[in-house]
Amino acid sequence: MATLEIHDLHVSVDGEGGPKEILRGVDLTVKQGETHAIMGPNGSGKSTLAYSLAGHPKYTITGGSVALDGEDVLAMSVDERARAGVFLAMQYPVEIPGVSVSNFLRTSATAVRGEAPKLRTWVKEVKEAMARLEMNPAFAERNVNEGFSGGEKKRHEILQLELLKPKIAILDETDSGLDIDALRIVSEGVNRVRESGEVGTLLITHYTRILRYIKPDHVHVFAAGRIVESGGPELADKLEAEGYEQYTKGTVG
Ligand SMILES: Nc1ncnc2c1ncn2[C@@H]1O[C@H](COP(=O)(O)OP(=O)(O)O)[C@@H](O)[C@H]1O
Ligand SMILES: [Mg+2]
Repeated sequence: MATLEIHDLHVSVDGEGGPKEILRGVDLTVKQGETHAIMGPNGSGKSTLAYSLAGHPKYTITGGSVALDGEDVLAMSVDERARAGVFLAMQYPVEIPGVSVSNFLRTSATAVRGEAPKLRTWVKEVKEAMARLEMNPAFAERNVNEGFSGGEKKRHEILQLELLKPKIAILDETDSGLDIDALRIVSEGVNRVRESGEVGTLLITHYTRILRYIKPDHVHVFAAGRIVESGGPELADKLEAEGYEQYTKGTVG
């Protein structure tokens, strides 16, 4: 069973006034089959955690460790992380001009699986996954994220998730910018992948609304670059009622 272990992770980013510490000792263990919601206010470092796990070059690891099944994730290149089974659905997916969705998905699947998927089964696989996400088939010929609406971008992220079948899925604000129908469709996609029991999910959000569709096993409050409280789903209800103020003011406990 795959396990992601984050221990005392410290991360800095180069700002205008020199390096700035964003993550200040993150501890978290995510096992295959589990869903962890990470909830925190804007600017608390949630995306920094997501990018650091995926290997974004902008973020410098200054301390701590990340291991997937005992293998040092921080020593891996971005590609190696993807092959090891780490998947990131970005908060702000980037445009890739000149690359169609169809080519992008096939290239990604080839990289992750270590061999090109057989064309006939692959075309069917993609078509079926797109249909489940209620995406128009013509979408496959568009350039990645170019002119996509917020909802289309997020569906495309979940399409990748369904096709790539990672061990650890990091979903950064997958609910942001979605209307209620898109939120349901995207959430159903995440739940399909979860039901396999083969993925550990890190669901990053600052609203509780996605948790009505995707039920977490654990909820963590993230503030000022670290996890400040952990609990079960009831913690999300408490946040819904009380907000983050008590954490940002440092009056907890
Ligand atoms: N690439 C970057 N360059 C400069 N500052 C950054 C960068 N990425 C994040 N930060 C800063 O780190 C802090 C945390 O940002 P982020 O991880 O995006 O928070 P969240 O996702 O919780 O809203 C913010 O103060 C943000 O301005
Ligand atoms: Mg963010």
